[in-house]
Amino acid sequence: MSVTIARPHSLRGEIVSPGDKSVSHRAVIFNALSKTNTAQITNFSPGADCSSTQQIMQYLGVEITRKPGGRLAGDTLTVKGVGLEGLTEPTDILDAGNSGTTTRLMAGILAGQNFLSVLTGDQSLKTRPMGRVVNPLTTMGAEISARANNTLAPLVFHGGSLQGINYNMPVASAQLKSCLLLAGLRADGITNLSQPAESRDHTERMLSAMGANLKKEGLDLILQPSELETIDVEVPGDISSAAFWMIAAACHPDAELLIRNVGVNPTRSGIITALHMMKARLELMDEREVAGEPVADVLVRTSDLQGIELSGETVPLLIDEIPVIAVAAAVANGETVIKDAQELRVKESDRIESSISWLRKAGINAEGTTDGMIIAGNEKINGGSFQSYDDHRLAMSLGIAGLISEHPITIADPDVAAISYPGFWGTIKELGGLVA
Ligand code: S3P
Repeated sequence: MSVTIARPHSLRGEIVSPGDKSVSHRAVIFNALSKTNTAQITNFSPGADCSSTQQIMQYLGVEITRKPGGRLAGDTLTVKGVGLEGLTEPTDILDAGNSGTTTRLMAGILAGQNFLSVLTGDQSLKTRPMGRVVNPLTTMGAEISARANNTLAPLVFHGGSLQGINYNMPVASAQLKSCLLLAGLRADGITNLSQPAESRDHTERMLSAMGANLKKEGLDLILQPSELETIDVEVPGDISSAAFWMIAAACHPDAELLIRNVGVNPTRSGIITALHMMKARLELMDEREVAGEPVADVLVRTSDLQGIELSGETVPLLIDEIPVIAVAAAVANGETVIKDAQELRVKESDRIESSISWLRKAGINAEGTTDGMIIAGNEKINGGSFQSYDDHRLAMSLGIAGLISEHPITIADPDVAAISYPGFWGTIKELGGLVA
């Protein structure tokens, strides 16, 4: 199957971003581990990744019900906490599908259980580095076996008790810190993590809201073993999904899009910083707080974008948005240079390789480097047929390229977008961009 996207004359309207994927994973996992009350999670992410997390928690004995929320409201999950000691041995292998977040967060929980479990996923997931969680969990006392010298899934958790850890994290990864904090909740002693740079902090916010004894000192996180209180969570809209529409509006010659209910947590909103640096006409409206997370509506209009340099501590704050930033960079005035983004090489695809490959095919002067890319800018995106690299964010970035290019773009396997955003092509259609 494929879709063909062509540029509509104008791009106007209101879009509601679906529930945030990162917050949804955490809301279901942390509430499942909380003390035996029932939590309501509203606006749960409709993506397949969060369904993988939900199903794994159910296989581990957690009672979860899911009610559909209709087209514009996400589903509501009811999760009955079992407490930190209440999970039960699964009778089969646990399947995280395409989800790195599920795998790494669950590793922190499964490592310290008193039962055996096996965690695997799809072809892409089985190529992603797991040594980064296996090594520190092993230092904490976990017994884990895995493929390729304990670095690749499937991962086998033999269970056992854990000790706290003092750990200098080698990468600014929210998945890694969340894994170790989850392990630390029921370890003996304190878990102390030093981060090389800030990454998304939904775990810290939610664990603190649930009563965990977690302190932050600069970039260090200090956790005492803690029980969790159940909390209801209203999941904010996903800024990583909203980013596609922000870039579409900024790059289209006649556009004004209002994206409602966007989570603008400063550890996630690097895309807004980047678009402001590129001189986008982007405004945050009605800034408010929902369930401990800042939220706003984002208005974006046709802009005259400038190329920029993105590097250093900004990169983890927009890591998932770089494939679609590459679309903006192709049409912006002047060169865009992205550095310090070597983590892109170990995402759902090698996102440096996949982005450069389609950009070049579309006639864009772009070059990959070991830790980023250089995109010349001032170019028109040629049409044609493109693959989606089995990567939801690549497929959707190509969809946005189609919305702003003078030439139609055909994308193979568009269904991969459902990993995070099943409604994406429906919204493109409503905006008048879907031709076939
Ligand atoms: C996520 C963290 C990021 C991000 C991923 C979701 C999370 O990965 O790329 O899509 O929810 O913790 P890293 O923390 O490994 O960079």
